[in-house]
Amino acid sequence: MIKVLFVCLGNICRSPSADAMLRKKVAELGLQERVVVDSSGTANWHVGKQPDERSIQHGAKRGYDLTVLRARQACSDDFNEFDYVLAMDADNLKNLQAIMPASPRTQPQLFLKAFGTSTEHEVPDPFYGGEAGFEHVLDLLEQACDALLVDIQQRLSLS
Ligand code: 4NP
Repeated sequence: MIKVLFVCLGNICRSPSADAMLRKKVAELGLQERVVVDSSGTANWHVGKQPDERSIQHGAKRGYDLTVLRARQACSDDFNEFDYVLAMDADNLKNLQAIMPASPRTQPQLFLKAFGTSTEHEVPDPFYGGEAGFEHVLDLLEQACDALLVDIQQRLSLS
C-alpha cells in the first residue's frame, strides 16, 4: 500500500484538486486497492468544509469529483502515516516542517519540485484570484500527478 498526502494552506482549493485528480488517475489504472490518496491544510480555518465552489466547478469540467472531500488540518502523525507528503508551495512546506516530528518516516517535499516538469516549483494559491488561476492550478497538477504516478508504479513494482 502506498499512501499519498497533498498539503496546501486551507485544504479547500489546491490539495483537494490534487486529491480528486490523483484518485481518479489511480482508479483508471485499477490501483485503488493499492494507493491511498488524502489531502490536508496547514491552517485549521476550513476544517470540515467542502472544497471551494470554484475548485469543485473547475475540477468537475475535467471529470474530477471534489464534492466528497472535507477539509482537515495536517498533523504530526501524517509524517509517519504517509509515503509521500507533498506541499503545494514553499510556505506550506515551511509550515509542515514546523509540525514535523523529530525523526519522521517521510520528509515533506515541494510537489512540483519533486514531480513537476515546468520551471514553476510552486502551485500558486488561487483563492483571491480569478477563474484562470483555478485552471492554471489544474494544468500544473495534471502533469505532476502523472509523473507522481510513474514513481508510485515503480515503488509498487518493487514491493
Ligand atoms: P488552498 O487555498 O490553500 O489552496 O486551499 C486557500 C484557501 C483559503 C484561504 C487561502 C488559501 N483563506 O485565506 O481562507
